[in-house]
Amino acid sequence: GLPARVRIHEVGPRDGLQNESAIVPVQVKAEFIERLAAAGLSTVEATSFVHPKWVPQLADAEELYPRLGGLDGVRLPVLVPNARGLERALALGAREVAVFASATESFAKANLNRTVDGALEMFEPVVTRAKREGLRVRGYLSMCFGDPWEGPVPVEQVVRVCRALVGMGCDELSLGDTIGVATPGHVHALLTALERAGLPASGETDLAVHFHDTYGQALSNTFTALQHGVATVDASAGGLGGCPYAKSATGNLATEDLVWMLHGLGIETGVDLALLCATSRWMAERLGRPSPSRTVRALSGT
Ligand code: HMG
Ligand code: MG
Repeated sequence: GLPARVRIHEVGPRDGLQNESAIVPVQVKAEFIERLAAAGLSTVEATSFVHPKWVPQLADAEELYPRLGGLDGVRLPVLVPNARGLERALALGAREVAVFASATESFAKANLNRTVDGALEMFEPVVTRAKREGLRVRGYLSMCFGDPWEGPVPVEQVVRVCRALVGMGCDELSLGDTIGVATPGHVHALLTALERAGLPASGETDLAVHFHDTYGQALSNTFTALQHGVATVDASAGGLGGCPYAKSATGNLATEDLVWMLHGLGIETGVDLALLCATSRWMAERLGRPSPSRTVRALSGT
């Protein structure tokens, strides 16, 4: 059956804002995160400690993160690609970090300047150190379904990198459809292959899904994952997002669209949909264009 409750891993401030051509002022980012928390989102991915030249949109991480100190009880994970990123996150007292691997060579090179295995070698000491410091570690895996340079991605290729991330000790694995090309049959095939491979071992590593909505499939794909017992779903408020190193990527599944579906299914999220929509409308005004989320638009009467 479906899970009774789903934890939404909100990625708007990170995945959303990393892809905006405009640099959003740090006080707007902080208010965005505060509003998301006030709308009931218990996990808000706040920013990335990556190379500032690679993602200038998030180069203000050192300024932003300390402003979030008042958000008691809200999980604020941050992305760290390497030892330098982890140092920066630890210096600010981050309690949750995420490394981000690729299932394909093309994207590993474009996003991390490494081979697939070279990136895993870069992450291994980061995960080990983070665990030793008592942090919770998420392992993202990008290009789990299709890659803009390589086309459809073989399931075995994805399973291999999942096994490596789980083996490092990641507490959670998030399967990314970075460019939004997955369809439910492919999601079913990958989750079935992971189950057959015994990944992730139950009780040790949580499984999450991370769908971008390029072809309008993100909700159907999410429903398929729920049927496989997945109870952590990534989404971005208002459908913001993309990836600057994968040109065909558009926004993530909109958190509002996800909440509408989950509440309709009787699945608890803890999210106040009206407050969340108001937050996305507020952010859309700051960004100067309307939210692509159907739910935000429907509930705004526009
Ligand atoms: P590189 O050029 O190979 O870096 O980039 P390097 O290791 O050779 O280091 C070069 C210089 O950068 C050194 O300085 C380092 O100190 C510095 P120098 O000694 O020359 O003066 N440096 C750093 N400075 C600050 N913070 C750091 C850092 N690291 C090195 N963390 C690197 C390799 C990984 C750094 C680079 O490729 C990078 O930052 N990539 C990040 C790209 C990114 O953030 N992409 C978006 C996130 S992933 C995503 O969106 C997908 C996801 O949503 C899931 C999905 O949808 O599939 C998660
Ligand atoms: Mg993403």
